[in-house]
Amino acid sequence: MKEGILKLLKENNDDFLSGEKISEYFNVSRAAIWKHINTLKEEGYEIESVPRKGYRLISSPDILTYGEIEKYLDTEFIGRKIYYFDTIDSTNKKAKEIALEEVEGTIVISEEQTLGRGRLGRGWVSPKGKGIWMSIILKPQIDPMKVAKITQIGAAAVSLALEDLDIKSYIKWPNDIVINRKKVCGILTEMSCELNMINYVIMGIGINVNLDKQDFRGEIENVGTSLKVETGKKISRKKLLGLFLNRFEELYTSFINKDNFEDTLKICRNKSILIGKEVRIIKGRDEKSGKVVGINDEGELLVDYGENKVENIMSGEVSV
Ligand code: BTN
Repeated sequence: MKEGILKLLKENNDDFLSGEKISEYFNVSRAAIWKHINTLKEEGYEIESVPRKGYRLISSPDILTYGEIEKYLDTEFIGRKIYYFDTIDSTNKKAKEIALEEVEGTIVISEEQTLGRGRLGRGWVSPKGKGIWMSIILKPQIDPMKVAKITQIGAAAVSLALEDLDIKSYIKWPNDIVINRKKVCGILTEMSCELNMINYVIMGIGINVNLDKQDFRGEIENVGTSLKVETGKKISRKKLLGLFLNRFEELYTSFINKDNFEDTLKICRNKSILIGKEVRIIKGRDEKSGKVVGINDEGELLVDYGENKVENIMSGEVSV
C-alpha cells in the first residue's frame, strides 16, 4: 500500500491530496495512511503535510527501488521485477539463490553490500547509497562457451549509459570500465549449466557512482575511483541505472535473437583502453608481455608477443 500511496502522490504532482481521500481510496483508516507517510519520509521522500489540506510530495530520494527507476525504463523485461534491499551480503549470492524460480531480467539490487564479491576471489567495496550494486538474472539459451560475450555486452552497455550522461569512459578488456586509468565499474558473471544447457547466468555489476576518495582505501586506493571523484559532480544513480538497463536490453536481445555481437564489438573496440598498448598478461603464475593489436570477432584480445606471434586471449588478468 505504501507504494500505492506514493504513486497517488506522484500522480497528483504539486497538489495536495487529502488524508481522507487517500484513506477512502485504499479503504483503510487515516492513521494507517499517516503511518505509511512517515515510513516514506524515513526513506527520504520529502512530503509536506498541512492540516485540512493533506499531503504533497516535494521530492523523491535517489534510491534504486522499482518505483524510482520506472520512469527512466524503456525495457520490456530487464529490470521489470526488482528485489530491493537496504543491505545484503552480496547481490550475486542472493540472485543465485532465487534464479531458478525467477523470470529472466529480474534484478537483485541493494543500497549496500557487506560481503560484495569481485573477480579472482577479491572483495568489492560497496558502501551504502553511493553506488549501483546489482545482479541481473539471465536465462540465455546459448552455448555456455558464449557467456563471456554477455559480460562484454554488460561492459559496452555501462559505457554507453555513461556516454548518455556525457561521461567519457574506456573499457579495459574484458569488462572493467575505467576513467583516467582508474576503475569505476566491475562485472562478475557467474553461471549454472548442465552439459550444454544454461540454467541461468548472473551478471553482477558494481558501479562506483558517488563514492568519495576516502572510500578507496588499502589496495584499491590507487586503482579505484568513482564517477563523482572524476567528474566533480554527484550523479543520479536512478537515472544511470535506467539508462544502463535500456542500453543493456537492446544489445542483449539483439545478441540473443539475431546473433548480433557486432554492435557490442564495435563499442568495445572504439572504447578500448588496451588496443595499441604494451601489456602484461597474467594467467596464474604465468606472466607474458606483449602489445595489444585488437579484439577479434569472438571478443578475444589479440596480443602480439613479437616475431609475428599473435595470440588470442580468452581470459586472464591484463595489466597496463
Ligand atoms: C570485479 O572484480 O571487477 C567485479 C566486481 C563485481 C561487483 C558486483 S557488485 C554487485 C554484484 N554482487 C557482488 O557481490 N559482486 C557484484
